[in-house]
Amino acid sequence: MIEAIKLSKTYNLGETRVHALKEVNRSIARGEFVAITGPSGSGKSTLLHLFGCIEQPTTGSVVIDGQDTSKMSQRALTKLRLHKIGFVFQHFYLLPTLTAYENIELPMKEAGMRRNERRDRVSELLSAVGLIDRGRHRPNQLSGGEQQRVAIARALANDPPIILADEPTGELDTSTGSDIVDLLTGINQKYDKTIIVVSHDPEIARRAERIIELRDGKIVNALY
Ligand SMILES: Nc1ncnc2c1ncn2[C@@H]1O[C@H](COP(=O)(O)OP(=O)(O)O)[C@@H](O)[C@H]1O
Ligand SMILES: [Mg+2]
Repeated sequence: MIEAIKLSKTYNLGETRVHALKEVNRSIARGEFVAITGPSGSGKSTLLHLFGCIEQPTTGSVVIDGQDTSKMSQRALTKLRLHKIGFVFQHFYLLPTLTAYENIELPMKEAGMRRNERRDRVSELLSAVGLIDRGRHRPNQLSGGEQQRVAIARALANDPPIILADEPTGELDTSTGSDIVDLLTGINQKYDKTIIVVSHDPEIARRAERIIELRDGKIVNALY
């Protein structure tokens, strides 16, 4: 369902070249819960951004549902991201001027969903993440854990089969982080979503069906 083929990414910083990812091959099946671990700077975020088509590989390709994304136009990629991939970030990245409801609704608007359908879907998602009474709150009126729940609901807005999360518990205390891990595990099981989580959090690694360990831009160990 999602496949990395000889995936490499090199960043050019003036004279120096940083080989962030070196010919990574990996395929991830539908419905899998995968953790990407490894030391800081090992290429975890780069790999996630390439999987999510928010960055382009230097060489190699990412294949999603049999489609080679390196051969797609920008327009086709935007559409693919909107419908197939939901992204959750460490720092939430909610729009501060919009309410929780409006943040979750935004990707639905981009996808051209009708108003009535959007209203039902946002309510359903607010309830799924345990925030039914927080729809009118703005991000600064919510706790960190609540903001991350909104971000997860937003990632689910257009019902994508793949959820990618980069250090989703990195900003949260242990107990709040643990609730977020429960939520992601539940989403994986209940809705059969493929979930790929970058994390240092041992609890996430423990819950994952598979661990991809990166070091220096290469997979050193894929457990399970
Ligand atoms: N936009 C960028 N420009 C230059 N170098 C980058 C950029 N993004 C990441 N890097 C470098 O690529 C390597 C891998 O980074 P990253 O994927 O963010 O690692 P991780 O998420 O595992 O900490 C690091 O050496 C980092 O400094
Ligand atoms: Mg990172």
